[in-house]
Amino acid sequence: MPEHQTTALRTRERTAADGATAVAHPNIALIKYWGKRDERLHLPWTSSLSMTLDIFPTTTSVRLDAEAADDEVTFNGSPASGEERRRIAAFLDLVRRRSRLTHRAVVDTRNTVPTGAGLASSAGGFAALAVAAAAAYGLGLDDAGLSRLARRGSGSASRSIFGGFAVWHAGTPTAPPAEADLSSYAEPVVAGDLDPALVIAVVNAGPKEVSSRAAMRRTVETSPLFEPWAASSRDDLTEMRAALLRADLDAVGEIAERNALGMHATMLGARPAVRYLSPATLTVLDSVLELRRDGVSAYATMDAGPNVKVLCRRTDAERVAEAVRAAAAGGGTVHIAGPGQGARLVDESGR
Ligand code: DP6
Repeated sequence: MPEHQTTALRTRERTAADGATAVAHPNIALIKYWGKRDERLHLPWTSSLSMTLDIFPTTTSVRLDAEAADDEVTFNGSPASGEERRRIAAFLDLVRRRSRLTHRAVVDTRNTVPTGAGLASSAGGFAALAVAAAAAYGLGLDDAGLSRLARRGSGSASRSIFGGFAVWHAGTPTAPPAEADLSSYAEPVVAGDLDPALVIAVVNAGPKEVSSRAAMRRTVETSPLFEPWAASSRDDLTEMRAALLRADLDAVGEIAERNALGMHATMLGARPAVRYLSPATLTVLDSVLELRRDGVSAYATMDAGPNVKVLCRRTDAERVAEAVRAAAAGGGTVHIAGPGQGARLVDESGR
C-alpha cells in the first residue's frame, strides 16, 4: 500500500467536535511553486516538491462557539487583524460551507518561528489550521483531502500536511474547476537514505516590499521568462524524484539550486522586476560555492526573500552553518533543520 494511503488511515473524526488542536511545521521547496493558474482555488502552474522541517512548529486550536457572532482569532496571544485575520476568516468560511455548520470559531495560533526570522509562516500555519478546523467541524478528511483544504489557505501549506519530502501535484490543467481542485494535492515522496539538513541563513529579517502572492501574479502576467522556467521545472521535478529515490544528495542539491535560481530569474524578468536577492544573499551564495570547492556538498535555495537555505548532509551541517554565519557577517542568524513530521492532531497542551 503506498505510504500516503497508510497515513490516510489517520482519517479525522467525522462528527463535529467542540474543538481540536493541531501542530504543523514549515516546509522548504526544493522544486518551487511559483505562479497560479487559478487564483481563487490556488491551483499552481507547476508541481512542486519540498522538505518539511523539524523546527518552528505552529500550534493552532479551533473551538466552535454557537453563541458568537464572529470568529475570534488570536495570534501569539494578541488579536489578529488586517490581512492575516481576513485570510483565516475566509478559510473558516470555506470549512463552514463544507460542514454545513454555521458556528463561528475561536482560533488560537501559536507560531514559534522567531519574530522576523524571515521565514514564511503560512505553510505551517494553514496546515495546522486545516487539520484543527477539519476536525472541529467534522469534515472527516483523509490526508489528501486535508492537503487540498490547506492549499486553499496557502498553496505551500498543502505540502506541510506531510512529513519528510512531499510533492504537490499541479493537477489537471485543462479540467473544469471542480475536477482540477480534486486533482491538486500533495503526497509523500519516496526517498532513499539521505540524512539531509537545511541550514537557514537569515540575512535580513525585515518585512518584504512585495508580498509573494503579488510577486507571483506579476511574474505570471508579465515575465517572458515564466513559461520557459515552468517547462524546465517540470523536467527538474522528474529528475529530482529520481535523485531522491537513489539518495543522491549532490544531484538533489544541484537540481534544487538551479530550480530556485531559475525562479528568481523569472522575477527579475517581470515588469517591473521583483528582486528579493540582496548583496548579503549573494555573499552567502559565494560561501556555498566556496564550500563546494572545498569538497562539501552544499547547495542553496531561496524563496520570496533574501534569506538562503543550504541543503547539505546532516554530518556537514555545523560546518556549513559556520561558513554561512561568517559570510552573513554582522547580520542575521543561522538555524539548522532536519526533516520533520507532517501536520497532526494533538491534545490541548500541544503533545
Ligand atoms: C517562493 O504558498 O506563500 O515559497 O499560495 O499565495 O499563499 P500563496 O503562496 P505561498 O508561496 C510560496 C512560494 C515560495 C515557493 C514554495 O514554497 O514553493
